[in-house]
Amino acid sequence: MSNDWHKICKEAIIWAKDAGKVIRDSFEKQLTVETKSNKDDLVTNMDREVETFLINKINEQYPEHKILGEEGVGEKVTSLDGTVWIIDPIDGTMNFVHQQTNFAISIGVYQDGVGMVGIIYNVVYDEMFHAIKDEGAYLNDRKLNQLGNVKLDESIISLNATWVTENRRIDPNVLSPLVKKCRGTRSYGSAAIELAFVAAGRLDAYITMRLSPWDFAAGKVLIEEVGGTVTTVDGNPIELLEQNSVFAAKSQLHEQILNDYLN
Ligand code: IPD
Ligand code: CA
Ligand code: CA
Repeated sequence: MSNDWHKICKEAIIWAKDAGKVIRDSFEKQLTVETKSNKDDLVTNMDREVETFLINKINEQYPEHKILGEEGVGEKVTSLDGTVWIIDPIDGTMNFVHQQTNFAISIGVYQDGVGMVGIIYNVVYDEMFHAIKDEGAYLNDRKLNQLGNVKLDESIISLNATWVTENRRIDPNVLSPLVKKCRGTRSYGSAAIELAFVAAGRLDAYITMRLSPWDFAAGKVLIEEVGGTVTTVDGNPIELLEQNSVFAAKSQLHEQILNDYLN
C-alpha cells in the first residue's frame, strides 16, 4: 500500500507539537533522571513518556509501519523494508535536564531505506523544521533556500570540543587545523538541532564521531532536501540502522573539507 506523505507529515507535525507542549509544561514539575550506559548518558520520565505517546499515535494510525525509537518502547527494527519511523523523543536530554532549552523531537520516516519525511521540532523556540522528499524543506511556514557555497574561512562549523582533545575515535590533530581555519565553531548539544541548523543555513557544517539512527534520521532528510550533503567523516554513505560518524555540510564545503582535512 502506498503512503500519503503529506498526511503523514501533517500528522507527525501535530504529534510533535502536542508532545512539545507536554514537555514545556513539565518544566514546572519534578523530573525523574536516570543514567543509561554511563553517568553522562541521561534519560528522564519525559523521554519515555514522549516516545510512548508518539509510538501510540503512529500505531493507531499506521499499524503496519515499523518504529525504531531511542528508548526502546517500540519493537527492534532489523531491516529497512517497508515504512520505518525513526524517532528520538528528546534529542539533547542533557540540555533538557540542565538547561531547559536546545533540545528537539526528531522524527524521520523512511520507505524501503529512502528518507521521505523529516521533522525536527526545536521545542522551546517553537521552531518546526520539516521536509517531504522532493518538495523542499520548511522552517514553520517558510520554505528554506537551497544551500549555496561558502568560503571555509567564512564558515561556522558545529563540533564538540571532545573531538579536538584526546578521545577514542579521532586523532585530535585531524580536526584542530579545521577549527583554526574556519570563522567560528559552535556546539549546541543536540545533533538534531545542529542538523536542522545546517539545513537552515545557520551552520555551514556539522561534524561528529558517533551518532545513532534516531539522532540523524530526520536531519538527513532535511539537509538533502536543500541540496546539502550528509555522509560519514570518511565520505561514505550513512548506514541507517547503525551508529555512524556524521559529516553534514553545504555540498561544496563538504567536498573541500573532505579532500583537504579528512582524507
Ligand atoms: C545526544 C545528542 C548529542 C550527541 C549525542 C547524542 P540524546 O542525543 O544528540 O548532541 O552528541 O551523541 O546521543 O541522548 O540527548 O538523545
Ligand atoms: Ca539523540
Ligand atoms: Ca534522546
